[in-house]
Amino acid sequence: MAERRANSGLDLHLDVDLRHPRRSLERALREAIRDGRLAAESRLPPSRSLAADLGIARNTIAEAYTQLAAEGWLSARQGSGTRVADRPVQSPNPAGRPRERASRGRARRLDLRPGVPDLAAFPRAEWSSAQRQVLATASYEILGYDPRGPEPARRAVADYLARVRGVRADPDRMVLTAGFTQGLRLAAEVLVHRGHRTVGVEAYGHAIHRSVLESTGLRPHAIAVDGHGAVVDELLGSDVRAAVLTPAHQFPIGSVLGAARRQAAVRWADTCGGYLIEDDYDGEFRYDRQPVGAVQALDPERVIYAGSVSKALAPGIRVGWLVLPSSLVAGVVEAKERADGGGSVLDQLTVARLIVDGGYDRIVRRRRLGYRRRRDRLVQELGARAPGARISGIAAGLHALLELPRGTTEAQVVAAAAGRGLRLDGLGTFAAAGHDDRPAVVVGYSRPPDHAFTTALARLVAAVGTVADS
Ligand SMILES: Cc1ncc(COP(=O)(O)O)c(C=O)c1O
Repeated sequence: MAERRANSGLDLHLDVDLRHPRRSLERALREAIRDGRLAAESRLPPSRSLAADLGIARNTIAEAYTQLAAEGWLSARQGSGTRVADRPVQSPNPAGRPRERASRGRARRLDLRPGVPDLAAFPRAEWSSAQRQVLATASYEILGYDPRGPEPARRAVADYLARVRGVRADPDRMVLTAGFTQGLRLAAEVLVHRGHRTVGVEAYGHAIHRSVLESTGLRPHAIAVDGHGAVVDELLGSDVRAAVLTPAHQFPIGSVLGAARRQAAVRWADTCGGYLIEDDYDGEFRYDRQPVGAVQALDPERVIYAGSVSKALAPGIRVGWLVLPSSLVAGVVEAKERADGGGSVLDQLTVARLIVDGGYDRIVRRRRLGYRRRRDRLVQELGARAPGARISGIAAGLHALLELPRGTTEAQVVAAAAGRGLRLDGLGTFAAAGHDDRPAVVVGYSRPPDHAFTTALARLVAAVGTVADS
């Protein structure tokens, strides 16, 4: 470890390991802010002079500043340089309370609930470069109303889905939406308009999706889920004529819809004149083999395909898509017009630009590698330290199902994790009424920023271990 003193105006003592300059500089700055050595609002040295003082590349300093700004430790203002945020993530320790208590407070913020990617890794540079290009090149006409979203954006997404997910996508049968959630609502409204009263939903899934369906007037009908995905045979002979499925990676159980069931689901929809809504929320994130292609390709006139950038970029971007059977296009376009007149054209075009330039693929590849490593560590650590607990489901996605050792309840593990400053969701959180029968927790390993993942994992392993031993 090389100890370097930064002399650039501010008297700043930083321990920087020259073998890992960026990581160690970030850590040293976080510690200095946390300890109160760097007070709120104090100005940091310009990257050029700090680079000279520490003997490391200026880019490294700039990247560390950007990362810490993204995490909320620093703020960068045009003209006034980089400063410590006025209320940094972790306040200093003014009352001189023992360190131990302060660090327990910090741990309380760790979170392994599923559904959110690593937001600290949002590709700010790529996004802002794509957005600048869009602003420089978009015609003024494109900034008007189009409930479907601009044609070039639909075309870019269609080409991407065809290439990556095998979707039979045609820009004329697409509507860009505010994420999957709005796509689900628009599709449900059209189904209600066409006389549907019930909708099949997997017995495990997000309560918010069930409630979106209910709010349109549809009654959810739970379909059991097992190691081959939804038990679609349960739909045969029922009065249900539409069903929402997560075929590529059942959320949250983690199974893939088996080949025979994919065929059976499409046959069922065709026979009853109904529809499948395919929620392809994390289809690009498969780690052990090539992902299974979309069910939509089996019958584009019976499958409503839905997805979004929420996993590859961030949920806050609110860009998603529907690829529709031709019979539903007009109805969904009208529903979208009623809902909001159309999404944010600049964001839709920015996503399109990222796709066309190859940036989106690079981001997905990068994130896939990162999440795959996290999942591998999760499996290893649990295997080594919490025998009896088991990760089930395929190696894919941003979450894993952790089946608990015999005699352990999910409430005990969730409570033990909370006591260690870790938020967790039990599987029961996602179960439809009457289906909460498997003690497990759903581990959203994508959620913590990189620097917090090791601690989050250690707390998870400790929580499971303590409950199993008691
Ligand atoms: C099962 C499932 N579907 C869809 C989504 C994405 O929803 P949205 O695109 O509205 O952010 C998520 C994200 O948490 C999810 O877990």
